[in-house]
Amino acid sequence: MRQHVNPLSRIHQLARPLPPLIELFADPSLPLHLDIGSARGRFLLAMAPLAPQRNHLGLEIRRPLVEAAEADRRRDGLANLRFLYGNANVNLPEWLAQLSPGQLELVTLQFPDPWFKLRHRKRRVLQPALLLAIAAALAPGRRLFLQSDVEALIAPMRQLVEASGAFELAGPEECGPTVNPLPVATEREAQVLAEGKPVHRSLYRRSTAPLPPLADLEAHLEPTTRGVDNRHDAEAD
Ligand SMILES: C[S@@+](CC[C@H](N)C(=O)[O-])C[C@H]1O[C@@H](n2cnc3c(N)ncnc32)[C@H](O)[C@@H]1O
Repeated sequence: MRQHVNPLSRIHQLARPLPPLIELFADPSLPLHLDIGSARGRFLLAMAPLAPQRNHLGLEIRRPLVEAAEADRRRDGLANLRFLYGNANVNLPEWLAQLSPGQLELVTLQFPDPWFKLRHRKRRVLQPALLLAIAAALAPGRRLFLQSDVEALIAPMRQLVEASGAFELAGPEECGPTVNPLPVATEREAQVLAEGKPVHRSLYRRSTAPLPPLADLEAHLEPTTRGVDNRHDAEAD
């Protein structure tokens, strides 16, 4: 199976509305954990029984992974877990806007695909419009958790979150290179840790600050021709 899917390809740009919570979960009123890029689903398959007080939704752009994860979920009889095919950038903003206020409790974005090249930056999953949609759906105090083994990729994600002015960073006692606020490691995380490599983590809480206009956030992040992206352009060619 191909490792990377181009999220900008026409097939993944189709507007396919995601089903409402009432069609997904036995108790749709529970608080929601959204995992973006859930891959084969093992992280949420382990999280859902540990956190039965929440519903867990995994969104993944590779359809065969979604099908395999859903088969495991049915086998395990987990009524508070679902996996859906979708492109986070295309399908999530409208869906997030329809959630009841306060329902979204936690968003996890862990080890996103490493699109290093500057010219591929639009393929990276955390784009300004998606961040604003997440921030608009998270009530004050609710959490956004980011992880990556690639410092050059988590740096622009942190920069974007911080430029929005809408989040507060949790302290090192709660989250850091050796402290994961969640009880389960993702597949990629387990692999990175087994190789003895560092994991970069940031936990944010939504503040009460209003959101900036999308154009302001995009302008703030206009890439320059300098910096880490170009170093990786050479490596990733
Ligand atoms: C490197 S994997 C990490 C998977 C998992 N989060 C982990 O930590 O083991 C990134 C996943 O995000 C998915 N993905 C990439 N872009 C996406 C998008 N726009 N919408 C939804 N999923 C996406 C990929 O297909 C892939 O399964």
